[in-house]
Amino acid sequence: MMCGIIGYVGYRSAVPIIVEGLKRLEYRGYDSAGLSVISGSGITLLRAVGPVAGLEKKITALSAGACGIGHTRWATMGAVNEENAHPHSDCTGKIHIVHNGIIENFGELKAGLESRGHLFLSQTDSEAIAHLIEEESAGCDSFADAVRRALKKIRGSFATVVLCASNPDTLIAARHESPLLIGVGDSENLVASDATAVLSHTDRVIYLEDGDVATITPNSVSISDMDGAGVCREIVKIEWSLDEAEKSGYEHYMLKEINEQPSAIREAIMGRISPAEPIIDIGLGEEDASGLKAITLVGCGTSYYAGLAARHFIERCTGLPVNVEIASEYRYYGMPKSGDLVVAITQSGETADTLAAVKQAKKAGARVYAVTNVIGSTITRIADRVMLTRAGPEISVASTKAFTTQMVVLQLLALRLSQLTGNISAKEVADHSSHLHRLSRLVQETLERRDAVMQAASGIAEKTAAFYIGRGQNYPIALEGALKLKEISYVHAEGFAAGELKHGPLALIDENTPIVAIVAGDPTYEKTLSNIAEIKARGSPVIALAFDSDTDVEKQADIVLRIPDAPFDVAPLLCAVTLQLLAYYVAKARGCSIDRPRNLAKSVTVE
Ligand code: M6R
Repeated sequence: MMCGIIGYVGYRSAVPIIVEGLKRLEYRGYDSAGLSVISGSGITLLRAVGPVAGLEKKITALSAGACGIGHTRWATMGAVNEENAHPHSDCTGKIHIVHNGIIENFGELKAGLESRGHLFLSQTDSEAIAHLIEEESAGCDSFADAVRRALKKIRGSFATVVLCASNPDTLIAARHESPLLIGVGDSENLVASDATAVLSHTDRVIYLEDGDVATITPNSVSISDMDGAGVCREIVKIEWSLDEAEKSGYEHYMLKEINEQPSAIREAIMGRISPAEPIIDIGLGEEDASGLKAITLVGCGTSYYAGLAARHFIERCTGLPVNVEIASEYRYYGMPKSGDLVVAITQSGETADTLAAVKQAKKAGARVYAVTNVIGSTITRIADRVMLTRAGPEISVASTKAFTTQMVVLQLLALRLSQLTGNISAKEVADHSSHLHRLSRLVQETLERRDAVMQAASGIAEKTAAFYIGRGQNYPIALEGALKLKEISYVHAEGFAAGELKHGPLALIDENTPIVAIVAGDPTYEKTLSNIAEIKARGSPVIALAFDSDTDVEKQADIVLRIPDAPFDVAPLLCAVTLQLLAYYVAKARGCSIDRPRNLAKSVTVE
């Protein structure tokens, strides 16, 4: 499951705080939502199928209870229905839990619990947690001890928060391989899957680590390990404002985030490149490059494509072989060696496959660097070095500013490694640095051409399929452009290396298949123009992405989306931005749920 969890204990009515938190966490799953609150008469449970708004409608009388938990679900085990919505309770109805993760030994646990008389009311694995705590409570004086003992029986991943009627002002929160943090307030405390859910109440958070169990009351937070030994975790101040985490007047988070790219890119390079001297400062020193033999980039989805897009640049800069691997494949089939550098690319820092891939690499003695957007995320605690993308919160499921800032940070990494290994000259480093300095302005100019993109989108919106082509560094951009389109508009879209068309995909195209051809910044430009000619011969409409100065492409393409003339190494980022806008306007014209596409969730914290 990749669900959202929120808990509150304090002096205010918990229900509105939980509902507000759930709305901010909805990007993590929106199959169903629910909450449980303790009040004088016991625990009140409310659940509804669908987004949080459905749950909100069911709240008729506000409970005065000041301690409660909430959950928004992305279903994995058990159908999408009210019984499977969280919270779940034990047989007595006095222990309620919310859970994000997967219990791998659920079958075994459930069989044992049922044989001892427990009655399961849902098909979820999560419900087992409540029954296990019920059993352990019998021989325990402390609620926290019962939770610890129960969790020790679980194999798998969890972030869980537990509410118990006999401890009306206490929440117990625990994590293992699923994110959870505590928002520290005054006479009140919160617990949540991520900081956006607590930011309107506090900017002070404690990130729980794997194995932590926290006992949270209005005035205290005490954390122990699974054996009950106290552990110390620091309070971190969140620098993101709530406004930054919200829509700021845009119709969709995705559009807001697309438009934030000029400032996100500025942030990504700020203080890392000196305009005067070719010095790249991303926290790497001599020891970080010594003995390096090969580099592997791993990630999933868009983050994987960022790796593909950076590959040739890193190879040119470092002179080292660079592999790019899908994390879910690499975790099982990768062959990491000591002497390798494995760079994990992950916006959230919580993607289960990426985390597993790097754990694998570390075990083999490889160095692990992380390129991530989320401070305090799990990857930042695993990696040897962390390079933050500094894009700010990305709420839309479709990744946009995370992608472009990942590409920027990967270029900085390449330049820094090339400096450390002396592989390219200071002049080359200075030239690339100046291109990165210009990038934010170029992205702004690209965004200003949105009207032309909107018009082109209307031609795709009524079609059922579209193909994207590019060569070299534009090939990953074609893959990413196609992913954006399919993800949010549900138009079937695929990206191809332009030279591959003749080897199969050409059979699919006809006058109803728009082809998006990326030619800006293509050193094999003429070859791609020939591919466009072949497509035109089959009657397909062609939308080309080309530089302002290109006067040839318009002879072939039906529509040309112009990209400001830009240096070769940053041109793909500009094309990526145009393709984000294209996907957005197609999805909008088709009336799709842009920020929360069907069947997807922002953070994929399970395999
Ligand atoms: O948080 P991560 O970067 O690790 O997420 C990886 C993918 O799940 C993510 O990029 C996904 O492909 C995006 N929704 C695509 O827009």
